[in-house]
Amino acid sequence: MAMFHVALFEPEIAGNTGSAARTCLATGARLHIIRPIGFKLSDEALKRAGMDYWHEVDVTVHASFDHFAAAFQTSFTENRVFSLTTKAAKNYSEAEFRKNDVLLFGPESRGLPEPIRGKTSPLRIPMMQSARSLNLAVSVAVTVYEAWRQLEFRSVY
Ligand SMILES: C[S@@+](CC[C@H](N)C(=O)[O-])C[C@H]1O[C@@H](n2cnc3c(N)ncnc32)[C@H](O)[C@@H]1O
Repeated sequence: MAMFHVALFEPEIAGNTGSAARTCLATGARLHIIRPIGFKLSDEALKRAGMDYWHEVDVTVHASFDHFAAAFQTSFTENRVFSLTTKAAKNYSEAEFRKNDVLLFGPESRGLPEPIRGKTSPLRIPMMQSARSLNLAVSVAVTVYEAWRQLEFRSVY
């Protein structure tokens, strides 16, 4: 079983999903992609984007957020869902992460919709006031590595 679940809600840019997938591969996390998405997931498109590691990634594609939520209710146990958003009051470093936690990230152009954030525990990555947001793939890497660090980089699944 994966240590963590990284979920990308309606991602728009193939390169960001590719970078997040690479981080998941490196940290033993399972990647969830929630449709609709802004790019093709065909073998040809992935190859064109240089994602030659894609077949090694533990990835599940969900038809919609409702399908994603249903999969977690029926086939996973004890999952807590943290949404990563610039609109949270609590810093990601204050969370106490556990194995099987879900880390949910929003789309590049608009972030996570409020109704979805409202169903989760929101966390933010601190930034200088002049910054609007971090790149999606960067925020995935920062958060997953903090979560895994808290579990002392254990590699037992
Ligand atoms: C490029 S950002 C989205 C920017 C969007 N315009 C907004 O205002 O939320 C893409 C995703 O990366 C994550 N993200 C980026 N910066 C973040 C931060 N400082 N704290 C938490 N999550 C962040 C969030 O999940 C966000 O939905």
